[in-house]
Amino acid sequence: MSEKEKNKRREFLNHVCPAVAMAFLGVPAIQSCSSGDDDTDMGTGNNNGGNTGGNTDAGYTKSGNTITIDLNNSNFSDLQSNSWKQFTAEKLLILKVSSTLYRVFDGVCPHKGTHTAWSYNSSNGQFTCGQHTKSFKSDCATPAAQPNSNHQGGGSLKCYAATVSGSNLVITL
Ligand code: FES
Repeated sequence: MSEKEKNKRREFLNHVCPAVAMAFLGVPAIQSCSSGDDDTDMGTGNNNGGNTGGNTDAGYTKSGNTITIDLNNSNFSDLQSNSWKQFTAEKLLILKVSSTLYRVFDGVCPHKGTHTAWSYNSSNGQFTCGQHTKSFKSDCATPAAQPNSNHQGGGSLKCYAATVSGSNLVITL
């Protein structure tokens, strides 16, 4: 082995960790090459994950075909004083009959599909879509008006099951 090769080998052994050098020389070693603390906790993570849907800050969550509304959330607090709410984000209408009874309707107008122009008349129990002023019953008993229908109070809006659970309103679409 030339002097140059010996120097290269020496240089190599000076730069590799001792365990590798020992193995290289045929000496068994169980020490690893890493420095520092190998027992570092990498964290257990949070496996809650999953898609909660909706947005809790918005006062509701959506999971599959179930929407759960926190009636105490400020976004829904108007239901405390008003008898109804246009729930635009989910294209629904919520009618408060009592503190334990709510009706929830498809807020897409059966006439031409507008979902943002509703008003409610408590004296006749009808929702009116301001787009073309068509009105629809809110009794959940009258058959639902068909899409593109020209009803003028002759049909109802499609109803969804809604139950009060504590301070939540649980809607099944
Ligand atoms: S879209 Fe609602 S009345 Fe025409």
